[in-house]
Amino acid sequence: MKILVTGGAGYIASHTNLELLNAGYEVIAVDNFSNSCMESIRRVETLTGKKIKFYEADIVDRDALRTIFEKEKIDSVIHFAGLKAVGESCSIPLKYFHNNLTGTINLLELMQEFDVKNLVFSSSATVYGEPKTVPVTEDFPLSATNPYGRTKLIIEEMLRDLYASDSTWNIAILRYFNPIGAHESGEIGEDPNGIPNNLVPYVAKVAAGVLEQIQVFGDDYDTPDGTGVRDYIHVVDLALGHIKAIEKLQQNPGLVTYNLGTGVGYSVFEVIKNYEKACNKELPYRVTPRRPGDIAITYADSTKAYEELGWKAERGIEKMCEDSYRWQSKNPKGYQIK
Ligand code: NAD
Ligand code: WQD
Repeated sequence: MKILVTGGAGYIASHTNLELLNAGYEVIAVDNFSNSCMESIRRVETLTGKKIKFYEADIVDRDALRTIFEKEKIDSVIHFAGLKAVGESCSIPLKYFHNNLTGTINLLELMQEFDVKNLVFSSSATVYGEPKTVPVTEDFPLSATNPYGRTKLIIEEMLRDLYASDSTWNIAILRYFNPIGAHESGEIGEDPNGIPNNLVPYVAKVAAGVLEQIQVFGDDYDTPDGTGVRDYIHVVDLALGHIKAIEKLQQNPGLVTYNLGTGVGYSVFEVIKNYEKACNKELPYRVTPRRPGDIAITYADSTKAYEELGWKAERGIEKMCEDSYRWQSKNPKGYQIK
């Protein structure tokens, strides 16, 4: 079975490609390298001993995307391609709307035209805005607090409208919580451009001595130790969730939505402590003011994914930190070739 993976050279896609190939799927990947490089594709090929059919193209370029649909007999699509930096989306919102929304509309129109109606979409816990209670279930009210989040919410709504108009589509909306970690080989992982925005990639660079000190964004939240609490999920568990979603689409489920998280929340201080254990050194930090737009606490109720997909996160925070540190140590400059 041929799976088209958009944003196929990115962080979550590279781990998903590896699991897809290991499970016997054929992977057709497309990426414009706006936040990735070819090296992740090569490394997945080396790790699996299998080939990925790769197209360098921008999904906003409809003709380029059409070529792929013309050449390949695609069965299902996993749609990762998108820009994802929350802060940047506030300064250049139109770029985010153009890239994430136009790219998705092109993809959906071509899928419709070529009668490829099985889709897994990368959504995010960001669509819950600031949840009133935790854990968060899929039926919680949805809202967006920044342009990036709004692109996810708009795409989700487009998908619900599309399905309402044509029930022959099968669509799995996956709402990821906070993906971290790396494949345990240390060969693939997250390779952010410049100074990382997210906590664990930043901590990894402090552990490696590349950055001096962790900034803890606020210790006066209404949480047990005052720092923000999140549901961190190992990227390999997340990748395996996509395999389950692809399998689910074969049963013609219609439109389904799942939270992918562990169900456990960790504070910033707890993450730092676990990372210190993984790298066996003390990590310097200082508490700074809250980051605008941050919420105090969120974590998932992923019962629905367990009951309907048979999926559950297996890897705990220690493993997430160990694997992140292994990737960072083996690849101090990331994939290097950008
Ligand atoms: P990533 O940046 O590593 O991967 C996205 C990939 O899409 C990159 O390789 C990028 O070059 C590519 N891309 C972007 N625009 C493109 C375009 N127009 N045409 C072709 N390729 C394009 O990010 P990731 O963390 O792997 O995230 C994958 C998806 O999951 C994204 O949609 C993201 O919004 C979503 N998501 C990520 C997180 C997270 O914390 N990492 C959480 C929730 C949801
Ligand atoms: C985690 C915690 C920060 C950095 C983001 C997106 C979300 C989703 C996942 C895509 C918070 C604190 C952080 C630092 C810190 N992405 N922190 N110092 O904000 O929960 O989620 O990524 O969909 O949409 O918003 O993740 O890793 O940035 O922050 O203290 O240097 O760490 O305040 O409590 P976040 P994060």
